[in-house]
Amino acid sequence: MSFNMKPNSNSLKYQLKSLEKLPIKIWDDSAEASAHVARSIALAIRQKQQEGEQIVLGLATGSSPIGVYKELVRLHQQENLSFSNVITFNLDEYYPMEPSAQQSYVRFMHEYLFDHIDIKPENIHIPDGTISMEEAEAYCMEYEKKIERAGGLDIQLLGIGRTGHIGFNEPGSWQDSKTRLVRLDNITRADAIKDFLHVEAVPYRAITMGIETIMKARTIYMLVWGQHKAQILQRAAEEEITSIVPSTFLQLHPNVKVHVDAAASAELSRVKTPWLVGMCNWNDELIAQAVIWLSQKLEKPILKLTDTDYNENHLSDLIIEYATSYELNIQVHNRLQRTITGWPGGKPNVDDTARPERAFPAKKRVIIFSPHPDDDVISMGGTFTRLVEQGHDVHVAYQTSGNIAVHDHDAMRYIEFMRDFGHKNEMINSDKLIELEKAQKFLLKKKMSEKDSPLVRNIKGTIRREEAKAGARFCGLEDDHIHFLDLPFYETGTTRKKPLGPKDVSIVKELLSEIEPHQVYAAGDLADPHGTHMVCLNAIFEAFKDLKKEKWMNDCWLWLYRGAWHEWATHEIEMAIPLSPMELYRKRKAIFMHQSQKDSPPFPGDDEREFWQRAEDRNRATATDYRNLGLSEYEAIEAFRRWKFD
Ligand code: F6R
Repeated sequence: MSFNMKPNSNSLKYQLKSLEKLPIKIWDDSAEASAHVARSIALAIRQKQQEGEQIVLGLATGSSPIGVYKELVRLHQQENLSFSNVITFNLDEYYPMEPSAQQSYVRFMHEYLFDHIDIKPENIHIPDGTISMEEAEAYCMEYEKKIERAGGLDIQLLGIGRTGHIGFNEPGSWQDSKTRLVRLDNITRADAIKDFLHVEAVPYRAITMGIETIMKARTIYMLVWGQHKAQILQRAAEEEITSIVPSTFLQLHPNVKVHVDAAASAELSRVKTPWLVGMCNWNDELIAQAVIWLSQKLEKPILKLTDTDYNENHLSDLIIEYATSYELNIQVHNRLQRTITGWPGGKPNVDDTARPERAFPAKKRVIIFSPHPDDDVISMGGTFTRLVEQGHDVHVAYQTSGNIAVHDHDAMRYIEFMRDFGHKNEMINSDKLIELEKAQKFLLKKKMSEKDSPLVRNIKGTIRREEAKAGARFCGLEDDHIHFLDLPFYETGTTRKKPLGPKDVSIVKELLSEIEPHQVYAAGDLADPHGTHMVCLNAIFEAFKDLKKEKWMNDCWLWLYRGAWHEWATHEIEMAIPLSPMELYRKRKAIFMHQSQKDSPPFPGDDEREFWQRAEDRNRATATDYRNLGLSEYEAIEAFRRWKFD
């Protein structure tokens, strides 16, 4: 895929291709894209070296640039890339912020880049989060001057916030803004909970380079990964320039390149509704996407769409090249109809050619992978119970301990219970009693955002483990079918996880090899490439790759579910499991087993609803979509998409 041209008055050809006013390159995945950007930066560094010159890099923090830094470190370690001629200026820093704090951008930069390369310490510049308010203005002016004295930014790396911010230039930031102290938007603070654990601990302010400072950079690379950025990317790229979405100012930059992964591209017109921006290479899935879109737009069931509807809504191509509306409607209606089944493990002894799952073997071995201890019931609790009731040999595997997502007060309650009950009934020895008291004291004195002690982590993990067991038992599983993988990448005690390692993959492989499943269910959330769900999915992909020569793998199908955060688009669904009102109620009760995640869990994301409410709303919404498209009306539907390996 190549960059779109920037539209201008004489490039009508490209205007027809896309509504994007930013040059965007869509990549299959963020790792590939990050490596490409890192190599472009390396090339620029080497070119300047040859000329005996320095190069000035503007750097960003957050999850977006991590892959770029990883590749730069690799290039330094394995391909002799030197950073001796590199001067860096970071975009921003929280205010107030001690450089040594866990969440400081100083710490971030050292952890991901500076500690692993040969950059001169005096060439590193990161806004100082410890200056007084009185000093701020002069300090910020001096930061600007330092950039100028260094010769200006050659390359600026950017992420984009869900508010549309670049740096911490929140909505309302002006085009001529410079480095300054700013207030953070509530959405930005909510997104930062993942680093600070509590919203109260997230600073209200930050020091950031201004829009003008950023725009003066000679080259800008913006990195956008994950479905949660799709909406704002569309606005940044396709809307008119406005200070309400500060990243739209990038449309005015002569040399900006935006690299996005497939998940982040989902809302761009050329991806979401390509027939509105140009000619399409039609295939069955794209036809389904277009017909469903038309039906939803006109609020008409699919079977009622007419030739005129197609012709008046940019879909005349379909009628001219492929069929009449009558045939198209039936084709897409049947495609959707065939996704619906009450038999997630396949219906025994029937013709399965048009069914989502195979009839044979009638009793399948199944593994449900659950990234956190509650995703299984939140995302597929109804299907889980059905699989068990229909006699399949179902195993559930909780991939991570989920130990950071337990409130301190909940852990305290359990510690006190163990201590008091154990002591009173002489069931606990004095050494253990002392340890419990230590854990209790730790929690009493724990500072906001402080990392838990190993014992407290262990206790929190155990709380989640017992809840998971209760949930899985409620769905009908015996204890020997409940597995806890405790993947090591997760065990940092903070929200920043280690990268996926060989040990993580080998644990997943071991379980797969032991069960030799016919069906595997996994969380297919592509919302955040560095989030736990994505890492857990990658562990499964890697394991599958390593095991692909095993004979049983020929019969192993991988089904991806979504649920806690977002749902498959209707045209993507390949298996739809309807739930009756009673089944939906049972699913709710299974989710209730996760007491520590009820009411307000430590990491609710940007959704105020409890997990059971989100799950029910999403499952009901899928059922409503199906009904509105003209299919049968169900109470709720759990949706799956099959992952096919090359
Ligand atoms: C970070 C910064 C921010 C982030 C943006 C995206 O230095 O200035 O603008 O780039 O908030 O954050 P992530 O990459 O964590 O999604």
